Amino acid sequence: MVDIHTLRDKERQRFTRTHPASMAQADAARRHYLFGVPLHWMRDWPSPATLAVEHAQGATLTCADGHRYTDFCLGDTGAMFGHSPPVLARALAEQATQGLTCMLPSTRSVAVGEGLQRVFGLPQWQMALSASDANRFALRWARGVTRRPMLLVFDGCYHGAVDDTLVDMDPASGRTLPRASVLGQVHNHDRFTRVVPFNDLSALEAALAQGDVAALLAEPALTNFGLVPPAEGFWPAARELCRRHGVLFIMDETHTVSTALGGYAREHRLDPDLLVVGKAVAGGLPCAVYGFTADLARRMTQAKEAAPDGHSGIGTTLAGNALTLAALDAALTHLHTEANYRHMLSVAEQLEQGLVERIHRAGQPWTVTRLGARMELQFMDHTPRDAQDVRDHARSDLEAFTHLFMLNRGVLLTPFHSMMLVSPATTAAHVQQLLGVFDELLAALA
Ligand SMILES: Cc1ncc(COP(=O)(O)O)c(C=O)c1O
Repeated sequence: MVDIHTLRDKERQRFTRTHPASMAQADAARRHYLFGVPLHWMRDWPSPATLAVEHAQGATLTCADGHRYTDFCLGDTGAMFGHSPPVLARALAEQATQGLTCMLPSTRSVAVGEGLQRVFGLPQWQMALSASDANRFALRWARGVTRRPMLLVFDGCYHGAVDDTLVDMDPASGRTLPRASVLGQVHNHDRFTRVVPFNDLSALEAALAQGDVAALLAEPALTNFGLVPPAEGFWPAARELCRRHGVLFIMDETHTVSTALGGYAREHRLDPDLLVVGKAVAGGLPCAVYGFTADLARRMTQAKEAAPDGHSGIGTTLAGNALTLAALDAALTHLHTEANYRHMLSVAEQLEQGLVERIHRAGQPWTVTRLGARMELQFMDHTPRDAQDVRDHARSDLEAFTHLFMLNRGVLLTPFHSMMLVSPATTAAHVQQLLGVFDELLAALA
């Protein structure tokens, strides 16, 4: 019987031996940063020290020790179109000498608006600096417009640092619970947030029927709790329920933009009232957008005009800045393209097939769940139905070992779970590299 802890210790020793520069950087950085990193989640990587990145380009990155990695994490989707795409680098360089931020629209604003409509289908847009902010603003508009207090989310959801959504569901009573891991939270969100299991239409209907819900905020598939796809027919029925109960339907496509050009909702004609996209939307620059229908734009205008003068609580100074607009313009024109998605989806399919074949051959009870260019290796024998199903089959020890094993052999998976994302710069050779390392992993676990 393989002892996963012994295996993991060996991998930790191997990392320490082969990454003296990253180890030294981590040590020195502790003098200036909490946990030794600029963002404390960067310590969620499974290695003894977080890799210090020397540079990243296309589908690869190079660490301080000169090791080259094939990157299937891609900044947890921020770099979905590859690191520093040349068209984006050129657009940024050009704009960098022409003004970075003026709190005025740039002469590109119209072209960007047209690009957003062309790619994502909705006519009206506003901007934010992060998907967390865009979700927060979308919720504020939704509550302002409907004059209803409640938000509905799914158990296991993640929509960024949005307090209202950082809640869990009590499996026994179905009640909203504060998420135990959230620090510094003093508000009890069960007053304003209701949580139901994903893929459960009757729970959704019961929650909506109370008549006090402003919006359903959801990812088309849960992508932050493993990967839980929607059941056949779930979304058309859920969409119809929202319509029937006057509830705004907000799709957070920050991760599911990997599904197809324009995202999942467009591909599956889900017809959202509001749509949020962050991270990769401008090729990885701090930028997020939220789009909405003409009818909702009319209601938002009325709500704003009816409100007293003063702060709306919606927006931040740097949103829609000139540099970001230049990046967004270039990204909408050259990155969000049919050709890029055709490549990403075909390479992702090769990766999925290779993993599935190997898993079957090795007789491991594991599953690969794919949504366009992203997929998840799940240490369970079926595609999960909801967050509880994922919890019931959690194998955090095996997951952490897998990540470190692959990292030590030049392949990066997303640290939070076992997500692999394919970019336009990812090639069949990168896939073969991952599959070769996966063969070694299976042998080590045999
Ligand atoms: C679906 C979804 N929405 C929103 C966010 C928040 O993005 P950011 O951290 O860039 O604000 C995330 C982050 O992972 C996400 O997965």
